[in-house]
Amino acid sequence: MTENIKVLNPATGELVEEVTIDTEEDIQAKLEKVADGFNKWKKVNAHERARLLRKWSEKVLEQKEEIARVMTLESGKPLSESLGEVEYATSYIDWFAEEAKRIYGRTVPANTESKRILVTRQPIGVVAAITPWNFPAAMMTRKAAPALAAGCTFIVKPASETPLTTIKLIELAYEAGIPEDVVQYVVNGSGRTVGEIFTDSPLVRKITFTGSTPVGKQLIKQSADSVKHVSMELGGHAPLIITKDADLDIAVPQTIVSKFRNAGQTCICANRVLVAKEIVDEFADRLVREVAKLKVGNGLEEDTQIGPVINGDGFRKVVSQIDDAVEKGAEVLTGNKFDKDDDKGYYFIYPTVLKQVTGEMDIMQEETFGPVLPITVFDTVEEAIDIANNTPFGLAAYFFTNDYRTGTYLHEHLTFGVIGWNDGAPSAAHAPFGGLKESGIGKEGGLEGIEPYLETKYLSIGGLE
Ligand code: SIN
Repeated sequence: MTENIKVLNPATGELVEEVTIDTEEDIQAKLEKVADGFNKWKKVNAHERARLLRKWSEKVLEQKEEIARVMTLESGKPLSESLGEVEYATSYIDWFAEEAKRIYGRTVPANTESKRILVTRQPIGVVAAITPWNFPAAMMTRKAAPALAAGCTFIVKPASETPLTTIKLIELAYEAGIPEDVVQYVVNGSGRTVGEIFTDSPLVRKITFTGSTPVGKQLIKQSADSVKHVSMELGGHAPLIITKDADLDIAVPQTIVSKFRNAGQTCICANRVLVAKEIVDEFADRLVREVAKLKVGNGLEEDTQIGPVINGDGFRKVVSQIDDAVEKGAEVLTGNKFDKDDDKGYYFIYPTVLKQVTGEMDIMQEETFGPVLPITVFDTVEEAIDIANNTPFGLAAYFFTNDYRTGTYLHEHLTFGVIGWNDGAPSAAHAPFGGLKESGIGKEGGLEGIEPYLETKYLSIGGLE
């Protein structure tokens, strides 16, 4: 008997579509398919792989409105953000289509006349990906595109909340001419987790995951027995620092971009806003005036800027952080208002700004994943750096300053992999995205983004003249 996953609209709780769950046998069959496919795909020349990737990107862009609508229906994000995400997703395909042609080897001078040494790069093999619900298109393509560009084959398990966007994108890959034994998806909801099936499989050579740090750690442990390669894009707890000389005409709107994108549900969202005591009141006043104007609603309505949070668990975590902060003395400047229906299953959180936030509040320790912006004050830049770095996470950090010495000092002392200086939206296909510390291993995007899908071999030829 087939089982289905119900994909629900987070803005209404209504059913969007049912999707058939893959059994473990289905998943094993798909793994064998991409393992067979690897023997052919690795021989396809790089220019042809690049052509097929470009074709895939074109097909996706031709249908961007429809894909964005599906994404909004299943993830709740505003349509304008879904459209932006489709373009962001194709930017990874375009970038890696070009990188496919630049997988260079090298020669190494030998220490004897009778030898030559050649260094070559080869695709790793079958790549298994697990992707999150907050970016159902872009987090998939930024793994699939470098994998395919490198000559690997690819199997992905999208989040069970948002499989439809991934399914649509993979159908378009087939339409573009990418063979079915090169890319596959699986949908799983019961029995052994897909993570266990992927990590146990001898056919899989690499696991790439975007999601929470605890799940990432589990996947790393499970990958140890067969020494699989791993790339992990894990949780964050981004500090955003506003120094006393910051240009508030830049800092205020960029803080809003950083914090409220996708209703605060991104790994790189500003999670702790640290403001110099000299300007905290002016910053907070200006910020609150703008935040209070953000339109909350169903993402399909054209003027919506803040959609629902993904589900009841997400909602309860955010509310408990607000309650904890208020109990411990934080002041609510705006928000702390909700529109929810537990029976129907939708949860909206009005954008919330908290002031007088201190280090012992949960919101300063844990990732929030919701539209809540806590403000805390600092005296010196050194103190701001200490607060910012006082976390096991090291994904993204932001700072706003017009002083190049302060900016250089902050950049050099913040232990984060992605840093925005007067920039609340640093992500780009052409730059290496990835966290330090417990925020992950490996980079996605940029020159670095294809490396995790390649192995290096060297050949030493002897007996020459
Ligand atoms: C994420 O939240 O995981 C990624 C966000 C981005 O690519 O900007």
